[in-house]
Amino acid sequence: MTDPATSESVSTVACCGDVPGCAGPDTPRRSLLVQALTGFLSILLVAIPSTLGGLFFLDPILRKKKSGGGGGGGTGVSRKDEQGFIRLDVTRDVIPADGTPVSVTVFDDIEDAWNRFRNVPVGSIWLRKVGDGPILAFNSVCPHLGCSVNYRRAENDFFCPCHTSAFSLDGAKSNEVPPRDMDALEVAMRTAGQDDAAGNEIWVKFLNFRRATAEKTPI
Ligand code: FES
Repeated sequence: MTDPATSESVSTVACCGDVPGCAGPDTPRRSLLVQALTGFLSILLVAIPSTLGGLFFLDPILRKKKSGGGGGGGTGVSRKDEQGFIRLDVTRDVIPADGTPVSVTVFDDIEDAWNRFRNVPVGSIWLRKVGDGPILAFNSVCPHLGCSVNYRRAENDFFCPCHTSAFSLDGAKSNEVPPRDMDALEVAMRTAGQDDAAGNEIWVKFLNFRRATAEKTPI
């Protein structure tokens, strides 16, 4: 014989197992599980973008720390010292002693908030020496309006073809077109990176200057 009370109880348990939303003893446990899962997913949804965003903004600082404050990072070795002198690829012994100028490309590191590029061409200079005299360096940008100053072998001078500015080989302007002399640059002679007047390494403090002004103003 079937006990009606037992039969009703079995029927209720079966119903709660199969019908969604049916109230019964499993419902609170399942609900807790869903809430925990939802909470966890919500935390992940907030934490992941926040962490990535934080890393993105901290990246320049982290990189600087990693590179020791500006001298490292990226690939290759910086050729610039803390005073701003850049080691050139040419050495004193290859500069003609007869005073003929030599054009040299200057490489420097370029850095913005997010990237650092090693040894990028940043300009060109004229170098010359006479006998055992000092190395002279001039920025090749014309102080008139910024064209490139060339060496004219026949006239043995510097000349800018844009508006005919002319300069002697010591950088002094030789006509009235340019507002000032060519921009001379500071030079340091070194051996193995150490100051040495008789050294063969040429280091130049490369700067650009405002154009079309009589004053030599670094920019
Ligand atoms: S830019 Fe050189 S002469 Fe004008």
